[in-house]
Amino acid sequence: MAFNFYFTILLLSVSIAQAFGNDYTSINAEEARHRAKRAPGDLLETVVLTEAEKIEIVRLHNQYRSRANASDMLAMSWDNTIAQFASNYISNCDFAHSTNAQRSSISGFSIIGENLGTQITSSNIRSRDYILSVTQAWHNEINDYFYDTFSCIANKACGHYTQVVWAKTYKIGCGAAFCRRATSTVGYRLLVSCNYGPAGNFLNNTAQPSRVGRPFERKGAPCSQCAQQDTCVD
Ligand SMILES: *[C@@H]1O[C@H](CO)[C@@H](O)[C@H](O)[C@H]1NC(C)=O
Ligand SMILES: *[C@@H]1O[C@H](CO)[C@@H](O)[C@H](O)[C@H]1NC(C)=O
Repeated sequence: MAFNFYFTILLLSVSIAQAFGNDYTSINAEEARHRAKRAPGDLLETVVLTEAEKIEIVRLHNQYRSRANASDMLAMSWDNTIAQFASNYISNCDFAHSTNAQRSSISGFSIIGENLGTQITSSNIRSRDYILSVTQAWHNEINDYFYDTFSCIANKACGHYTQVVWAKTYKIGCGAAFCRRATSTVGYRLLVSCNYGPAGNFLNNTAQPSRVGRPFERKGAPCSQCAQQDTCVD
């Protein structure tokens, strides 16, 4: 082939609380569109994350969480059960979110959140860098987010960012897979999925129109609003 290509895509983050199921019709419709269009590829390799990669993913999340200047931000740590879910799911090579039912009752959480990202390349290079850089890409949505009105710039997505810095989320597990794209397309893709316990991005039904609530509070000193038994990050 005469050209090489390389691009990345993030898929709108979802974490849907069953209690708020009906309020999430717009996101469910979005998911339904993704599912209708999806064309799962063929698995080349389920990536076994190294200990160093796991540590770096957790470190990056906690670094971004610290920078939020929140008063109720919990420290995040790795969860092997959640990571196993992410790895199994992403090995389907399908760039579409898992269903609420699939994400329910995992590692003691009634539902876990999910951020997805993919890097598409023309050749089968199997570079792993994106496994780490996708966290920054998710967090970069901070530039489109207004804390005061807890909303995004019109037509922008901020759901990956709000999940990364969702104060009450304290467990993370990620998986990745190298896949050949579906036959209708050319090239290869690295898919990365991180799941979060408990899920973030809960709706605030007091707000009009109803929308995702504030990911964290800024009322007082760092950790001042954390419960005694929590591990808070400054
Ligand atoms: C947190 O506080 C520091 C120091 O006041 C400030 O520079 C930074 O922009 C704040 N971060 C956010 C996300 O508001
Ligand atoms: C929910 O929305 C109300 C009304 O806009 C706002 O005052 C409140 O801070 C919001 N709470 C959260 C957790 O987002």
